[in-house]
Amino acid sequence: MHITLKAALSISALALLAQVHGQLVWSNNENHKSGGHVPPPAPRPVVFYHGMGDSAHSKGMEELFESVRTLAPTIYIHSVQLAESESDDKKAGFFGNVNDQVDIVCKQLKENPHLEGGFNAVGFSQGGQFLRAYVQRCNDPPIHNLITFGSQHAGVSDIPGCVNSDPSCSLMRTIVKAGVYSSYVQNRVVQAQYYKDPHNIPRYLESSIFLPYLNNELGAKNASYAENLKKLNALVMFLFEEDITVKPKETSWFGFEDENGNIVDLEDQDIYIEDWLGLKEMDEKNKLIYETLKGEHMQFSLEEFAEKVTIPFLLELEEPGLSTKARSQLNRLRIKQLRQQQQQQHDYQRHSRESRFKLQILD
Ligand SMILES: *[C@@H]1O[C@H](CO)[C@@H](O)[C@H](O)[C@H]1NC(C)=O
Repeated sequence: MHITLKAALSISALALLAQVHGQLVWSNNENHKSGGHVPPPAPRPVVFYHGMGDSAHSKGMEELFESVRTLAPTIYIHSVQLAESESDDKKAGFFGNVNDQVDIVCKQLKENPHLEGGFNAVGFSQGGQFLRAYVQRCNDPPIHNLITFGSQHAGVSDIPGCVNSDPSCSLMRTIVKAGVYSSYVQNRVVQAQYYKDPHNIPRYLESSIFLPYLNNELGAKNASYAENLKKLNALVMFLFEEDITVKPKETSWFGFEDENGNIVDLEDQDIYIEDWLGLKEMDEKNKLIYETLKGEHMQFSLEEFAEKVTIPFLLELEEPGLSTKARSQLNRLRIKQLRQQQQQQHDYQRHSRESRFKLQILD
């Protein structure tokens, strides 16, 4: 889903933040050296991966890059692009084989000389789990901090809806209805490759060509997936509190729903308990950071991005540790409470809701 920037760009607010950041680095340096101001070191390069319906250099993406440069004028930015033209790049977000797409990303990032010393990465929506696939399968050069926004790490229990009557998106939904787990659809429709039917997990495990492999859910586990993921400095996962595009929204934190529609958090799933991906070990080392944003899917302001991403994780002014752990716990508690409240409201209106929102997927 493409970015919806909530407020108009407030350059002055960002410039103020940039000034504060400059002072922070300044005073740190003065602690170590007496006399002579040393300019802050150039931040690590950053790679962005856009979401469904968006493209590498869309207006929203470029505005965001510009706002990052306000805080970090020398930062190198690369935006993952799967096709030469913006319109073909956007189509690649709907159509293609995700395994092949990840191979292209591996090659593209490996060949970029600016990135050879490693980089931080930000994945929007599905771009988040695709960057995680990059880490698990390639990670050459390595990602330091991986930040994901409303990503579908545990899959989706419904195919995302379309906004702005995007013709590619409508076509995608039409094709999926022909049979989401058929090999025809699996090899061609991106969203089908992370669709996980909570009512038919065996069919998902048997037929999905991407997500069960990525999440080491099959009998044969790939040990290098966990080895690579554990090399991250931090996996920062943003969940949108009012997300109704991605179902369930907790998938952004690896949560998923059981067949009764109840949310099962990551730590109660086998993927964590048996540590198929190294997530448990990462959690114990405080490397899993649970963050939230207030709005609907992919709605945030540039100020929020600056404060919650650029300063802590791109300029690396915050390291994973006890403070990020405490914040994560607080955020998780809040989302749980919110869920309980929503559940109560939902129970109340159940009948009318279910018939309106359920996409009929013919299997
Ligand atoms: C595990 O994943 C790596 C990276 O994608 C791949 O090269 C390797 O062949 C896989 N190993 C197995 C046993 O599938």
